[in-house]
Amino acid sequence: MINAPIKAKDYIYKRVAKTACIVPIAIAALSVNAKVLTEEERQLQQNQRPEKYDTSAIFNGNQPDYKAVAKDIAEIIANKPDKGPTLVRLAWHSSGTYDRITKTGGSQLGTIRFNEELAHGANAGLDLAVSWLEPIYKKYNMKNDLSYADLYTLAGVVAIKTLGGPTIPWSAGRLDSFNVQDVTPDGRLPDADKGSSKDTATHIRSIFGRMGFDDQEIVALSGAHALGRCHATASGYIGPWTPTPTTFNNLYYTLLLGLKWTVNPKTSKLQYEDPTKKLMMLPSDLTLIEDSEFKKYVEIYSKDQKRFFNDFASAFQKLEELGTSNLTSVTWA
Ligand code: HEM
Repeated sequence: MINAPIKAKDYIYKRVAKTACIVPIAIAALSVNAKVLTEEERQLQQNQRPEKYDTSAIFNGNQPDYKAVAKDIAEIIANKPDKGPTLVRLAWHSSGTYDRITKTGGSQLGTIRFNEELAHGANAGLDLAVSWLEPIYKKYNMKNDLSYADLYTLAGVVAIKTLGGPTIPWSAGRLDSFNVQDVTPDGRLPDADKGSSKDTATHIRSIFGRMGFDDQEIVALSGAHALGRCHATASGYIGPWTPTPTTFNNLYYTLLLGLKWTVNPKTSKLQYEDPTKKLMMLPSDLTLIEDSEFKKYVEIYSKDQKRFFNDFASAFQKLEELGTSNLTSVTWA
């Protein structure tokens, strides 16, 4: 930790220097229009925290009460369990932009709160999850000590535990970016359909491989589809994967292998339905039993929920920590 304050200062210095170049250009551009925004208005308009925010508090030991933060997140889910899965998806999408070659993206900078990133196709509907967490951010960020990046990743592990899943280790200390230019390009998250099962498998391996995940980890992470549903208004797909979408369990694998999945003739996008027509699978879900390397792990997790919980916990912690540095382990549960 001796190095941490130096790194933090260095980081803030770079951010301020970057912003110092951009601000005059932005103000000059705006002044062409009738109303010139104040600096604070401009940042608020861009869904940014005011520049006076000083993240060094995080490095000076001023930690918020993460157990209290976790309790408030759990309360959102207790009041409306359907919000839990969406919070898991927010945590995953905030982290899943990581590229291990360029070392960009990942949860570290909290950029998913920017409208520019929320506008990415894969993030449709996640603006809601961001807004649910905003009151908690405001409540606990009294000493500039809670970052959005920490809040979104904490929400993921709290949701998984609250819905009956494992208690996943979580660490704090991510620093938010103030700069929309840190939003990574659209297209880093997986598509559900690449035209054929083979092409979809290649696509999934390439997307998760870019983050540093292997086949076993891909299948373990995909078990999160035990939770939640597809929304016509968000992805355009419709329906839940399991009859218990607010319970974290290994049913996703059991149903994937155990039910007969046929093309749903009624939906505009290609998706599959079970014989009762109540459940759904995406083309990418079916790929996990059509590709023999993926299928091996679907079979293991369908028979062994304990192993699924352990492997999921390891992979999800890894996902949330991709590209992060200087994190401190926190007892949040
Ligand atoms: C090949 C990989 C994946 C694809 C193509 C995919 C695709 C999708 C799609 C299309 C939706 C529906 C969104 C909506 O309409 O609201 C969804 C929902 C969801 N995904 Fe994934 N996903 C993948 C991997 C993952 C992973 C790795 C996780 C977490 C570890 C995850 C967690 C979730 C959850 C919890 C939901 C439900 C959200 C809700 O109920 O609001 N997914 N996914």
